[in-house]
Amino acid sequence: MDISLKFFYKMKKMRIVCKIASEVLEFIAPYIKPNVSTGKLDSLCHQFIVNEKHAVPAALGYKGFPKSVCISVNDVVCHGIPSNEKKLKNGDILNIDVSIMKDGFYGDTSKMFIVGTPCSLAYRLCKVTEKSLYLAIQLIKPGLRLRAIGKAIQNFVEIENFSVVRNYCGHGIGRKFHDNPQVLHYDAYDNGVILKQGMSFTIEPMVNSGCADTYIMRDGWTVKTKDHSLSAQYEHTVFVTKYGCEIMTLRSDEIIPHIYNNI
Ligand code: MF3
Ligand code: CO
Ligand code: CO
Repeated sequence: MDISLKFFYKMKKMRIVCKIASEVLEFIAPYIKPNVSTGKLDSLCHQFIVNEKHAVPAALGYKGFPKSVCISVNDVVCHGIPSNEKKLKNGDILNIDVSIMKDGFYGDTSKMFIVGTPCSLAYRLCKVTEKSLYLAIQLIKPGLRLRAIGKAIQNFVEIENFSVVRNYCGHGIGRKFHDNPQVLHYDAYDNGVILKQGMSFTIEPMVNSGCADTYIMRDGWTVKTKDHSLSAQYEHTVFVTKYGCEIMTLRSDEIIPHIYNNI
């Protein structure tokens, strides 16, 4: 499999675009409250990306996607289309997925937000999903089998009695938005891929409180859990370094290291 490696100036460009993506999630946080529409959140993100950061919202127009960010509420797994009719209410959980292009390179990151007070199941689902991403990141170093990432995520999530979505995966990222390799969030054959310094990819586990099955709504985009259980997702763009990895999309509200040395 052809997996592109990035050094020096490509790495610098990745750092810049990924930082912007993470800043969008920091910027939007204070606006998330009951009665705000997901359409309003999208337009605030769009303004910030274009006018403040002079960057391109990569979702907008991607395979016909109509908005600048994906916003996925409660039983929406991913690819939720922001809308002025969809207003947030107390207890909702939502994922905002921000993908940015600048200077020919892409960055991609998402996190969960909680509106007001969540039920304990929703809170635990978000925490477990975030933790599953973190524990996968902590394994990354040159020489690691790619499938070790999915295996670690699946093990942890299933011990917690939640399920990992199979139908969507992480991806290589750089000059392309979605590149090789596919990064599965469960244990399955990985085409023998072994991580090497200079690889960059996303890890973006989607975890359901019920069964793992999903369906796509009639709008052609919105992915929901088949059993209408809750779903959570966190995504980072990571870069394999000589001794471990660098989290390119780390935010200021996260308490984990920016660089891992695992060798
Ligand atoms: N950001 C998503 C990902 O993590 C892709 C969104 S594509 C869109 O890969 F068209 F729905 F925006
Ligand atoms: Co992605
Ligand atoms: Co994304």
